[in-house]
Amino acid sequence: MTEPLRLGIAGLGTVGIGVVKIIRRHAALLEARTGRPVVISAVCARDASKDRGVSLKDYAWETDPVALATRDDVDVFVELMGGHDGPAKAATEAALAAGKDVVTANKALLAIHGQALAEQAEAKGRVIRFEAAVAGGIPVIKSLTEGLAGNEITRVMGVMNGTCNYILTRMETAGLPYATVFKEADDLGYLEADPTLDVGGIDAGHKLALLAAIAFGTKPAFDDVKLEGIQRIAIEDIRHAADMGYRIKLLGVAQRSARGLEQRMTPCLVPANSPLGQLEGGTNMVVIEGDAIEQVVLRGPGAGEGPTASAVMGDILDIARGIRIATFGQPATTLDEAPSAQTGLPAAHYVRMSLQDKPGAMAKVAAALGDAGVSIHRMRQYDHSTTIAPVLVVTHKCTSAMLDHALDGLEATGVVEGAPVALRIEEL
Ligand code: NAP
Ligand code: HSE
Repeated sequence: MTEPLRLGIAGLGTVGIGVVKIIRRHAALLEARTGRPVVISAVCARDASKDRGVSLKDYAWETDPVALATRDDVDVFVELMGGHDGPAKAATEAALAAGKDVVTANKALLAIHGQALAEQAEAKGRVIRFEAAVAGGIPVIKSLTEGLAGNEITRVMGVMNGTCNYILTRMETAGLPYATVFKEADDLGYLEADPTLDVGGIDAGHKLALLAAIAFGTKPAFDDVKLEGIQRIAIEDIRHAADMGYRIKLLGVAQRSARGLEQRMTPCLVPANSPLGQLEGGTNMVVIEGDAIEQVVLRGPGAGEGPTASAVMGDILDIARGIRIATFGQPATTLDEAPSAQTGLPAAHYVRMSLQDKPGAMAKVAAALGDAGVSIHRMRQYDHSTTIAPVLVVTHKCTSAMLDHALDGLEATGVVEGAPVALRIEEL
């Protein structure tokens, strides 16, 4: 096979320019590995006059992503603009309709429109590849669709938003409050243009929905992901969790059982000495559990020019080699519509509250938990100089319904100030 593979790249920001650089730097290596040249026919971005630090003069320039996606000299449309609607969706649909394969790093687009796009691709005999969309440079989609394809996957979990992991670990190591570290992350350019995508868990929720679809053979169901961000995590929680031998992570967990498909992206406590507990800074980690493999742990850079472009290139090279895998690992029309699990598996929980320091207050707390059927595993009252005592409870396993009942009961005691903070402790 000596015909070149011709690319049209829409989006010349962090990821797009990273891809252009690899193609320019490694032209000979890419050809040696795939048996054919990988070339760029045309590129597209909003501002043609911007200096992007790399020469683009060899490539045709398009102002309209749809025009780029449908050019006769483009075999693969590489979508690196972002956004779940607008030009990314229009150009991807146009590319598929015109018979092009698609490579994208866009988790929002696929988490929301992935099923329809996958069906469109298959009807046209095309592929959509999106390794870069989940956990940046970590080849997690390849692992699930290829290396681990012989397993029944039992659980997928991980830390998939580097910005949140940076904020949480920096809060712990520097002893700084959330607002200060959030500002630092902003100054360092870590946050998405809309920071809620990061700290609200939405970006990581998109990624989890994509992994769940592949792992469990289900249609991507982002609306069913239980989402909670890290905004309400206080430095006290970080300290108390550490004191109890845990770390707080924005943790995604997906598992399928008789209760349905459970998908959660929420702050959780994990053992400090576990691989997830030891994950520092902006790094990502995905843990895959399967009936034959037991557990595989993948760790690496989840974002940035080089790592994300590396993942995009992996997809492009597969297409150059003739490797064609269905978008979510099996034909889109065979994906299940799994019911969403209404309740999670029972788990131990961390509950922090501010308790009025007066006779009988602790007894009321114990009674409220007991009335909800929640049993106390560990309890600590911390030193304090005011009339309010910080109290921490680690429960035995209970359901989220029992916990909600207990939290209502705590608020009704009249001795707990404000709303208690409750976090799930994930078993690893
Ligand atoms: P970015 O730096 O903001 O770049 C976006 C590019 O898209 C820019 O070149 C922009 O043009 C172009 N663009 C936007 N709207 C356009 C339109 N209507 N027509 C033509 N071009 C348009 O974004 P990025 O960080 O590279 O991210 C790209 C994608 O990769 C997103 O889906 C993102 O979620 C995903 N991703 C990024 C990372 C990462 O580390 N950055 C990691 C994983 C996944 P101008 O330059 O002219 O403004
Ligand atoms: N904003 C994401 C993160 C990078 O912080 O991990 C893009 O996926």
